[in-house]
Amino acid sequence: MTSNHAPRIAPSILSADFARLADEIAMCEAGGADWIHVDVMDGQFVPNITFGAKVIETVRKLTDLPLDCHLMIVQPERYFDDFAAAGASGITIHQEVSPHLQRQLVHIREVGCRAGVALNPSTPLTGIVEVLADLDLLLVMTVNPGFGGQEFIPHSLDKIRRARRILAEGGSRATLEVDGGIARDTIGDCWRAGADTFVAGNAIFSAKDPQSEISVLRDQCAVSV
Ligand code: DX5
Ligand code: ZN
Repeated sequence: MTSNHAPRIAPSILSADFARLADEIAMCEAGGADWIHVDVMDGQFVPNITFGAKVIETVRKLTDLPLDCHLMIVQPERYFDDFAAAGASGITIHQEVSPHLQRQLVHIREVGCRAGVALNPSTPLTGIVEVLADLDLLLVMTVNPGFGGQEFIPHSLDKIRRARRILAEGGSRATLEVDGGIARDTIGDCWRAGADTFVAGNAIFSAKDPQSEISVLRDQCAVSV
């Protein structure tokens, strides 16, 4: 069951060259990126540490594209106001560290952002049914979060199919995003399984021609198999 949306590509700046961040963002725009994906990690929920509101503010000044902020941090609600003020367009939090998920999603909408929930590969989809009314985006992680450049977990395809079914049956128009190991050989299957928004770090920034790779990835969704 594919989505009604056109495929969206969201380059993850985790894999960008930060010394040339302005050029990297300009390249994403020139290549037709739909969103910029910003990975916030705290060294607690995931082993790695990345960046916070200051970097979001910097990226905000470099582009008008929506900033899709993926918070891999504990107690994410402590930062909703700061991230929204810094220019986040969407804030996605992990269900594993969000015991009051419904209230947290409402809060994200209150600060003016798209409210998203991310699920680790081992986290079941079941809880999502209870928050569909407050959900703008469901992020099915296709690797265990923490690092760029990891291998896509094949079982994710079945989970994407089930996620699409849950959204459709619940009458939800939420975006269904996938993140981790998305590349030429995995994106088409994810699209056909029902994902509509694709985060890609390594596949874009390590490509020979990163700018054209954005369209190459999108084109894989048009291929029929
Ligand atoms: C992983 C991050 C991803 C990461 C994806 O923890 O959430 O957004 O940047 O990187 P690739 O596309 O290289 O797997
Ligand atoms: Zn991410």
